[in-house]
Amino acid sequence: MRLMKTPKTLLGGLSVQEFLREYWQKKPLLIRGALPDFSGLLSPKELIRLACSDDVQARIVTRKQGKYDLSHSPFSAKDFKGLDKTEWTVLVQSVNHHLRSAEDLLKSFGFIPHARLDDLMISYAPKGGGVGPHFDSYDVFLLQGMGHRRWQISTQEDRTLIEDAPLRILKNFKPEQEWVLAPGDMLYLPPHCAHNGIAEDDCMTYSIGFRTPAYQELAEQFLVYLQDRICIEGMYSDPDLKAQKHPSEISHAMLKQVASAIQKVRWDKEDIANFLGCYLSEPKAHVYFNPPEEPLTLRKFISLLKTRGVVLDLKSQLLCNGNTVFMNGESMAVSGEDYVALRDLADRRELPALKSCSTELTEMLYRWYEDGYLSLDENVD
Ligand code: SIN
Ligand code: CO
Repeated sequence: MRLMKTPKTLLGGLSVQEFLREYWQKKPLLIRGALPDFSGLLSPKELIRLACSDDVQARIVTRKQGKYDLSHSPFSAKDFKGLDKTEWTVLVQSVNHHLRSAEDLLKSFGFIPHARLDDLMISYAPKGGGVGPHFDSYDVFLLQGMGHRRWQISTQEDRTLIEDAPLRILKNFKPEQEWVLAPGDMLYLPPHCAHNGIAEDDCMTYSIGFRTPAYQELAEQFLVYLQDRICIEGMYSDPDLKAQKHPSEISHAMLKQVASAIQKVRWDKEDIANFLGCYLSEPKAHVYFNPPEEPLTLRKFISLLKTRGVVLDLKSQLLCNGNTVFMNGESMAVSGEDYVALRDLADRRELPALKSCSTELTEMLYRWYEDGYLSLDENVD
């Protein structure tokens, strides 16, 4: 069984608690030999092939005479022809949705809650390639795979960007520190730390990125969530209507009545938890699941569940909170015992064979199986 493990070397000998206390969201950390045997999960050719599949989000950044250019997927093999003459890089988003080994790599970072994890992005650049000096608004672990990358970083306050550039490039980048990372080395950067990565040779970098939703986005989405759930009784009435000097004016009495009706919109902690679980587990717009073409019958599924267990689909996001589970944007309240089993599935992204299991739980697992959200484990021990 694949377990969640954080190798001792990953944080350079720091315990998770020390790392979180001293560095997380606070300051950069260079870790030599974070994953000493790591040299990458796929070749540049395989990454380019992935960048050319239609359900993958990828970007190509080129630089000619110091000017950057950006193009977005869908790509085909011909988009990569002729790039050799420029300094270029390809960046492929959410590789963990496509490669089991990428998901396994993310499991090493399981000390950060799943609700904070965004994805694994992999870049490839020949010598000289890079996306230019910039800052990101999220935390990132930059793990070096194949080759070498020179990283320059700065804690500068000046975040002015070059105007009219197709991507966010810092106008006045002033590097304060720099290192060349070799396979297995890793650099942790907190949000807004300016950085510039330049390929020293054929170079692949693995970015383990985290998400920090903006309050504005959360509030807007919460209002969308709320609109299907509020129930305010009654309607506007004015049996005491007074004649107005200016009929075009909205009266104070009307405003007062409407304000007091709208103030009846209420929500509690449970609404916030339910919204957050649905919002954070919602698949991104381009994500599609592949339901089984010839699904097993419920009976057959139940019998196999007893010997094989289940594995989440690479694209599934399962979160939980207070006896509610959130699967790919949908919430379901479950009993205490089922919750423990589903939390285990969410933590490890797999569940061992279930000797006994409630009808509710089997039916839920079967529905998710039919939707392509999980499958029976192929690796029977
Ligand atoms: C890269 O992999 O080239 C860019 C990663 C980053 O700067 O965030
Ligand atoms: Co960056």
